[in-house]
Amino acid sequence: MERDELYSGKLIYVDNAASSWPKPRSVIKAMCDFMEKACANPGRSGHRMSIEASRILYNTRNELSDLLNVRDPLRVVFCSNATEALNLALKGLITEKDHVITTALEHNSVMRPLRELENSGAQISILKCSQDGIPQAQDLENLIRKNTKLVVINHGSNVTGAIAPLSEIGKITRDAGLLLLVDAAQTAGCFPIDFERDQIDLLAFTGHKSLLGPQGIGGLVIGERVDIERLKPLKTGGTGSRSEYEHQPDFLPDKYESGTPNTVGVAGILAGVQFVKKRSVESIREHEMKLTGVLIEGFEKTGGVRVYGPKSLEKRIGIVSINIDGMPPSEVSFCLDREFGILTRPGLHCAPLAHKTIGAFPQGTVRFSPGVFNTEEEMTTIIEAVCQIARRG
Ligand SMILES: Cc1ncc(COP(=O)(O)O)c(C=O)c1O
Repeated sequence: MERDELYSGKLIYVDNAASSWPKPRSVIKAMCDFMEKACANPGRSGHRMSIEASRILYNTRNELSDLLNVRDPLRVVFCSNATEALNLALKGLITEKDHVITTALEHNSVMRPLRELENSGAQISILKCSQDGIPQAQDLENLIRKNTKLVVINHGSNVTGAIAPLSEIGKITRDAGLLLLVDAAQTAGCFPIDFERDQIDLLAFTGHKSLLGPQGIGGLVIGERVDIERLKPLKTGGTGSRSEYEHQPDFLPDKYESGTPNTVGVAGILAGVQFVKKRSVESIREHEMKLTGVLIEGFEKTGGVRVYGPKSLEKRIGIVSINIDGMPPSEVSFCLDREFGILTRPGLHCAPLAHKTIGAFPQGTVRFSPGVFNTEEEMTTIIEAVCQIARRG
């Protein structure tokens, strides 16, 4: 019902890893309601509309904490997206004396801040991944040095769909007394995450992918083992709290939330998280993995098509990268869009090392990422379209 209202069926949108679409009707309504009825400045003025805006922030921190199993909702800090959250964690924590371990699967929103930090003296080591894109947790211990502070890991690869062995990495990291930063841009909302159980210390999420919210909102969860005296904010300024002081507040979340927030975005993410919780992450995962299974099976039977990533569905999220022999990904994606109304993402998906690992550099891949509103019938149409294109290759 929700889907039919929004989605005419003429397009097959399978680019949910870039940004999910369509959005649930409830997300659009919550954002419109906020703009119409409560668009005041939260935490500033104290009148009823300002209190209502603050309530939205408060409720969203609660809902997100519940979804990710975070004990203290004040540890959820809003940022503009996962990129800002990752920059806050990395630049706020790492000094020129520190060593950081990361993986060959990282998105540039981890890799670029790390390379910037490296230019100022920090040391970086890369944990290798298998050819299907799974970080080799057993090699992690060997990379640890005396000055290692942090392990940064992409939870779900936006190139191969491979899921990192989080609990294994969490245990090794915790046993060594290090901090673990998880990039959950591709997993929050479609794969179960337990911040406490998986021994995560920092977790970056974005609102516009599987949390089904709008673009321009995300956040960083800051765990109890992170000393916030040592985590510098990316920006400082007005917070609505401690207005008598010229110095930045030293408490959560205000220390990291300067300036009027994107409250309309938060209203959207709140409705998105409520939608996800009502459906349940498990049933969303089941649906997306069923569609992913259909795609992989269909592509594997198609001559001239190479499928990347782990063989087992259990080791994947709903992302399938392929190449057709003899055809550049951009051409395949263009044909899919223009001739069949199938919307995919071609090329390098902001993660050059991941492409090198799977042997798809520099051309990249064609990426299909089905979401909660896609159907099995659409997957069949996609396979037929890819078959037709591959026959021309
Ligand atoms: C694994 C991963 N990390 C980080 C990001 C950055 O997310 P955002 O653009 O919302 O900041 C993305 C976006 O595609 C991603 O796939």
